[in-house]
Amino acid sequence: MIKIVNMQSIHTHQVAELEKLCFSDPWSENSIAGELDNPLSLWLVALDGDAVAGYVGSQSVLGESDMMNIAVHPDCRRQGVAEALIAELVRQLKARENHCLTLEVRASNAAAIKLYEKLSFAQIGRRPNYYRNPKEDALILRKEWQL
Ligand SMILES: CC(C)(COP(=O)(O)OP(=O)(O)OC[C@H]1O[C@@H](n2cnc3c(N)ncnc32)[C@H](O)[C@@H]1OP(=O)(O)O)[C@@H](O)C(=O)NCCC(=O)NCCS
Repeated sequence: MIKIVNMQSIHTHQVAELEKLCFSDPWSENSIAGELDNPLSLWLVALDGDAVAGYVGSQSVLGESDMMNIAVHPDCRRQGVAEALIAELVRQLKARENHCLTLEVRASNAAAIKLYEKLSFAQIGRRPNYYRNPKEDALILRKEWQL
């Protein structure tokens, strides 16, 4: 059974391994560990026993939050893990008086775009050539809620 908890230092190695597996331009383990000391950051992990099945990272400033990244291990996809991570992230961001969550997604990332559509994120913009490896536009999506 999957349990969503706040990321701790025991998780950062596995999160970094998942970053490498899922992204062409991954965050380093040091950068991920640094998020634990950043008062603006909130990162969650989905645990299957001791194994990190997925994670989501965010930073918030003046009531507005940005999702830095989200990934689920290929063996654990399509089981609602990402949906559960985002639901818990929004719950905790709301409790900290943040009122919206913004993210960038590669224009070709159909799975992630479907996920965000399901969770009522709306497109608010597009950044041409935002990504490298390979170069690609980013769609900017946002979800807002009442406090
Ligand atoms: C995108 C990602 C995080 C989704 O994780 P997940 O745990 O498999 O997603 P969930 O099981 O919670 O899916 C929730 C909904 O998202 C949509 N969805 C997720 N994966 C999908 C896919 N491959 N194709 C179509 N829709 C998909 C569906 O609407 C799904 O609901 P449903 O299963 O009831 O149809 C995962 O595919 C991943 O890690 N991808 C690589 C990293 C990445 O691209 N991250 C996003 C960066 S912006």
